[in-house]
Amino acid sequence: MDHKSFIDSLIFEYVNTFDVKRACQLESEGFPPEEAFTLERFTYIQSAALTLFLGAYLSDSSSTSFRKLSLIGFIMSTLADAPKFTKESMSYHNPFGKTVCIHTICVDKLYRRRGVALCMLKEYIMRLKNESQNRDMNGKYERIALICHEHLIPFYQKAGFILKGESEIIYGNEKWFDFVLEL
Ligand SMILES: CC(C)(COP(=O)(O)OP(=O)(O)OC[C@H]1O[C@@H](n2cnc3c(N)ncnc32)[C@H](O)[C@@H]1OP(=O)(O)O)[C@@H](O)C(=O)NCCC(=O)NCCS
Repeated sequence: MDHKSFIDSLIFEYVNTFDVKRACQLESEGFPPEEAFTLERFTYIQSAALTLFLGAYLSDSSSTSFRKLSLIGFIMSTLADAPKFTKESMSYHNPFGKTVCIHTICVDKLYRRRGVALCMLKEYIMRLKNESQNRDMNGKYERIALICHEHLIPFYQKAGFILKGESEIIYGNEKWFDFVLEL
């Protein structure tokens, strides 16, 4: 399948309760153990912030009788009050927060470097803007914030995020960098 047909075949849907385990499994394959979220935290975020937990799915061609989708990547966030990514947002979703804190962007190893993550982020940003438009002034999202390791700085720059410098957050063993995208 060529690149365009592959990207066009991606289906974006919010991650339902049945796929939370699969998302958690993808994360544990993609992150070192000291950085990965537990299934409990995934379950909490899925129930508290469903429209901030977006999956990229491929149609499973081996299934003939009904449409079966397999999860190959996802983005998961919570809302926070602070204007940049906070450690508290990793365990607490503030439904009145204005900052969308992205905790995880993860793509199945089998499908990396094929544009899935960039495409997923584009869809995610578009959905946040649309959702925000339908909220009243007090409920609007103002920005997306995240932290990443140094080697992924070019990835987030490609997606339109602005590098704010080294983060104060200590989590796992490596340095983190702050990124923000104003909505
Ligand atoms: C980071 C991750 C989500 C990228 O997913 P992906 O679908 O492979 O990314 P894309 O194909 O959309 O990448 C687009 C561009 O970003 C950059 N990029 C992506 N992954 C990169 C990596 N591991 N190192 C350096 N640059 C990278 C490249 O410029 C790439 O373009 P190119 O392939 O033409 O060179 C994926 O590698 C992953 O799941 N990693 C493990 C979890 C993780 O570290 N997530 C980020 C948390 S902050």
